Amino acid sequence: MDPDAYARELASEAIAEGDPTGWFERLYAAAADGAVAVPWDRATPHSLLAEWAARSAVVGDGRRALVVGAGLGRDAEFVAGLGFDVVAFDISATAIASAKQRHPDSSVRYVVADLFDPPGEWRGAFDLVVESMTVQALPEPPRRAAIAQVGPLVAPGGTLLVIAAGRDPQTDFGGPPWPLTRDEIDAFAVDGLTVDRVEELREPDAPIFRWRVELHR
Ligand SMILES: C[S@@+](CC[C@H](N)C(=O)[O-])C[C@H]1O[C@@H](n2cnc3c(N)ncnc32)[C@H](O)[C@@H]1O
Repeated sequence: MDPDAYARELASEAIAEGDPTGWFERLYAAAADGAVAVPWDRATPHSLLAEWAARSAVVGDGRRALVVGAGLGRDAEFVAGLGFDVVAFDISATAIASAKQRHPDSSVRYVVADLFDPPGEWRGAFDLVVESMTVQALPEPPRRAAIAQVGPLVAPGGTLLVIAAGRDPQTDFGGPPWPLTRDEIDAFAVDGLTVDRVEELREPDAPIFRWRVELHR
């Protein structure tokens, strides 16, 4: 079965049931049974994350990092490799179990948690927060509400890195994913965060593009 088509089918069923995050567990469970592949399952970290870390010569030095909607752990493992003390969370228990199984010797703490109800001690606790392709996997609502949940997790002096598909406001694109507009990117700047660098990475004639955005508190 085509993984993207299957993911879309699960998403539209869950949304029709009024449970817009319910399809992730169903997808990861089907993948764990070998029935289908997870569309975003890659052996390597997101190229925009890897490039960003190399360009800025990012070194963790034991500082704390949080990976939002970490899926099977590709970005979390990369961030741990930079020297960060990493917590990686996902709403899907099967994703977290699969990530732990895939990385048995990892220093990453993989946790089942919901971005809409994160543990209280995470508030303002992380020097680096990586949000890559999570909120874009949610329809609106609750995408705006999800965006507002991310910034408060960043520590004073910390960085939020957002990687997402992007669209111009006039371009409609049936999801998932639901590419973010500039207005939605700016909505990450809550709780004292400021948008410091916005990269809009476009290919000629493509209707959607990619955002890489750095915010600081
Ligand atoms: C498109 S996938 C991207 C996964 C990962 N960031 C990657 O790039 O491989 C979106 C992920 O966000 C997770 N997710 C969606 N809503 C969430 C929520 N409310 N809290 C935590 N994780 C969530 C999903 O389970 C899924 O693993």
